[in-house]
Amino acid sequence: MDSSPQDAAGFHHVPVLAEEVLTALAPQPGELFVDGTLGGGGHSESLLRAGAHVIGLDQDATALAHASERLRNFGEAFHPVRANFRDLRTVLNDLGIGKIDGLLLDIGVSSHQLDTASRGFSFQSDGPLDMRMDQSAPMTAADLVNTADVEELIRIFRKYGEEPSSVRIAKHLVEIRQTQPFSTTAQLAAAVESILPRRGKRHPATQIFQALRIAVNDELGALEAILNNAPAPLNKGARFAVITFHSLEDRLVKQDFRARSQATLDRPEWAAPRPNPAHVYQPINRKSITASTSELSSNPRARSARLRAVQKI
Ligand SMILES: C[S@@+](CC[C@H](N)C(=O)[O-])C[C@H]1O[C@@H](n2cnc3c(N)ncnc32)[C@H](O)[C@@H]1O
Repeated sequence: MDSSPQDAAGFHHVPVLAEEVLTALAPQPGELFVDGTLGGGGHSESLLRAGAHVIGLDQDATALAHASERLRNFGEAFHPVRANFRDLRTVLNDLGIGKIDGLLLDIGVSSHQLDTASRGFSFQSDGPLDMRMDQSAPMTAADLVNTADVEELIRIFRKYGEEPSSVRIAKHLVEIRQTQPFSTTAQLAAAVESILPRRGKRHPATQIFQALRIAVNDELGALEAILNNAPAPLNKGARFAVITFHSLEDRLVKQDFRARSQATLDRPEWAAPRPNPAHVYQPINRKSITASTSELSSNPRARSARLRAVQKI
């Protein structure tokens, strides 16, 4: 993610780890890629420039419209689809496509989503407490904060925000909403700040906003689904790259890639190692890749980005 100037269409998002993604995906002319998180279309554009064809998915109608406009000159080489990447299989079936040569996921929110107050992702500017990437999804962050029971809020703040004061914050929010339901980002940020004073540069509501966003968009559920669905449509030799911004997501990717990259399994009770029936990948990079200092100096939002990539065997 980034803090770049807006493009001509008013959408701004500089792709993170752009060169590293291209190296991992190694697009060849005529190959077919799925970009599961089209966003501003930056990564897709570099795949298209390399001569590959791209099916670009985004669940956000605004992102899809902007990226489609940006990539219009690539003609039929680019095909935008409004979809959740968890539904990759259905998307490919509907298009009559059996196999692909590469898959890219750059998980999370775009700079444009974060910086558009009316989307309700940010405590930096006031807006409706929304946070839906898919604007047609039934549940907003306000719905969640106003209706979830206290145990559920604690679970969300703990698990997705790793927030040490989850219990206090959840109880406080439940108390407030009895008289004044939450409807704006500023209201929620102020409620958290009233019991958790600022320490350092970070706003005390940072983790709470992150946790609600992950819950509202079922981000971990979508990631688990695509990790399970990815191997089937990948051609032999196809590349699969994932950029995450959160340790929970990175752990899921790391564990999945590792489990599917082991040729054999071994257990103490077995006389010898046995072939691993889940073995479908070989790693492209042994370790995760993070942003270079030069990228970080121009794009601080890349600081928590981690890239992992595998190749289908
Ligand atoms: C970090 S941005 C991607 C930026 C993009 N790589 C670029 O170069 O501009 C993430 C985008 O993925 C979308 N997104 C996140 N989770 C998604 C999902 N499960 N299905 C489809 N789109 C998703 C968001 O709406 C957002 O536009």
